[in-house]
Amino acid sequence: MKSLIVANWKCNPETPKGAKLLFNTVKRGIKNIKNVEVVICPPFVYLPFFQKKIKKIEKIKLGAQDVFWKEKGAFTGEISPLMLKDLGVKYVIIGHSERRQILKETDEMINKKLRAVLFTKLRPILCVGETEMEKRKEQGLRVLNSQISRALEGVPEKEADKIILAYEPVWAIGTGAACEPNSVLEKKLLLQRIFRKRYSPNISKKLKILYGGSVTPENALSYIKEAKTNGLLIGGSSLKAKEFLEIVKMVSI
Ligand code: 13P
Repeated sequence: MKSLIVANWKCNPETPKGAKLLFNTVKRGIKNIKNVEVVICPPFVYLPFFQKKIKKIEKIKLGAQDVFWKEKGAFTGEISPLMLKDLGVKYVIIGHSERRQILKETDEMINKKLRAVLFTKLRPILCVGETEMEKRKEQGLRVLNSQISRALEGVPEKEADKIILAYEPVWAIGTGAACEPNSVLEKKLLLQRIFRKRYSPNISKKLKILYGGSVTPENALSYIKEAKTNGLLIGGSSLKAKEFLEIVKMVSI
């Protein structure tokens, strides 16, 4: 099965030169790799550099790290789904925990973004995950249920099969403390169950689920093989071309 490997560059690299170098190294490195789709999510300002380049390579797609829910208008600082689509973007990360925590994004905002992205025929990657505190209080499952249910409000069956979920426990992001594969598998089954309650069985069968949080070449394969996820959402390791390519090669089996 084809894995989806998503590189979330976050607010990196600091210069266009660094961004182009990273992109070109990854592009060259995946030339002969099969069975994998790589999505690069750079900061918005770097998207135009890569727009033409990805047209020639089927295995790489462009993603955005965020989006606004309106098409246009007086919304200072925001970027609309249509603007992203025009730049060749195919995937959009929504509800990343850094945006929920640092930028105070609410479930209501995430719901609006999800619906706008689906309406524009882009593919949303909806991030969900519990914090360290919620995990300690054994509230993880309840948190996932609430985040997903609120994000999905008003999303009809015919659009739901385009959604990709990323399970990213907040305590595992950037900490080196990756989640155990068996725990990821447990969450995957829960996410499928939530979808099954809302939509027809067909939708939950087609649902793609990624894992993110301190993914490295050492643990990457375990999330595909043991946790049976459909791919990975990678932060830190996606900024090191050698590590990222190692992961891509590893999962392309
Ligand atoms: P790290 O891979 O750096 O833990 O980040 C994960 C992440 O937040 C991807 O969206």
